Amino acid sequence: MNIAEQQRAPFNTNFGSDNTAGASDEIMQALLTCNSGAAAPYGNDEYSLRAEQRLSEIFECPVSVFIVTTGSAANALSLSLLTPAWGNIYCHVDSHINNDECAAPEFFSGAKLVATQGADSKLDIDQLSAFCGHKRGDVHSTQPACVSISQATETGSIYTIDEISAISKVCKSNGLSLHMDGARFANALCALDCTPAQMTWQAGVDILSFGASKNGALSVEAIVLFDQSHSEELGYRRKRAGHLCSKMRFQAAQLDAYLADDLWLRNAQQANAMAQYLATGLAQVDAISIQGKVEANIIFCQMPATLFEALQAEGFYFYSGRWGKDVCRLVTSFATQSRDIDHFVSCAKRLALNV
Ligand SMILES: Cc1ncc(COP(=O)(O)O)c(C=O)c1O
Repeated sequence: MNIAEQQRAPFNTNFGSDNTAGASDEIMQALLTCNSGAAAPYGNDEYSLRAEQRLSEIFECPVSVFIVTTGSAANALSLSLLTPAWGNIYCHVDSHINNDECAAPEFFSGAKLVATQGADSKLDIDQLSAFCGHKRGDVHSTQPACVSISQATETGSIYTIDEISAISKVCKSNGLSLHMDGARFANALCALDCTPAQMTWQAGVDILSFGASKNGALSVEAIVLFDQSHSEELGYRRKRAGHLCSKMRFQAAQLDAYLADDLWLRNAQQANAMAQYLATGLAQVDAISIQGKVEANIIFCQMPATLFEALQAEGFYFYSGRWGKDVCRLVTSFATQSRDIDHFVSCAKRLALNV
């Protein structure tokens, strides 16, 4: 069943990724509204200015905002500001920048990604400390420059504020900058129930890739600079990377609508709540066991191959086998409804009788 067919089906059966959902109605409406009349090009439109103002309010400090169209661009351009070409960018081995960006961070920065281990896809503070001092000053070796963390991580885990602060402390004491990949920023924020300021600059984050596309927008992400000294450079870097859209109003209007009336928070709360609901439902199926904690909108569970293959044959879409034998990943989004979960769980219960 393709996505168009699934959209016509009575239930949403796609748990592949939060990217498979469409966009929120409010975002689509904002695109229609901003389409009328003329608007200044290249980010000088009213929507861009309003989105920047709103982000300054949300983060409780003046921020510079650079809109781009993909999360990979947000990450690569952010990191290019934080390292010389001979620098090391420390990240987790599971991170999107390490696995899924086709070396864009290296391409835009010229620097080297150094992937480290750590439980739950989170950086291990002791490993990080050891890396930060490694071969410093050795002209033969790339030099420690910055650290990137994902919040929420690619496996749905979340750094606590204390963990972010501890990482930032290591960064600061070694002269490194800290980047946060917030493709799922809103999911993490809602799960932690803290303020955007607490989860970022107050905990020592210098630059944030503020995600929106996974959480109800169509094609917009924003680089948020807490340290505005990078603003001029980032303007040139974004242009060089081809992310200064001439009709930027269409990206900015999405961001504006995303931030208005707390749409971004409402969407993330829905996605997170559906993940919890799904986990509760799956826990009732004997053949399925949930792996680890469900913190944001991503669930990992173990089930026999016969069961996940039967579910997939019934039209459910989710990834299996990539994270270990019989391990499946299910992702919820703002568009997931409780009836979609009920349908999945009841099918799983029925099919589990035959495995
Ligand atoms: C953690 C994380 N960062 C960034 C991205 C951004 O990816 P894209 O370039 O596809 O927008 C994703 C998308 O899957 C992601 O999961």
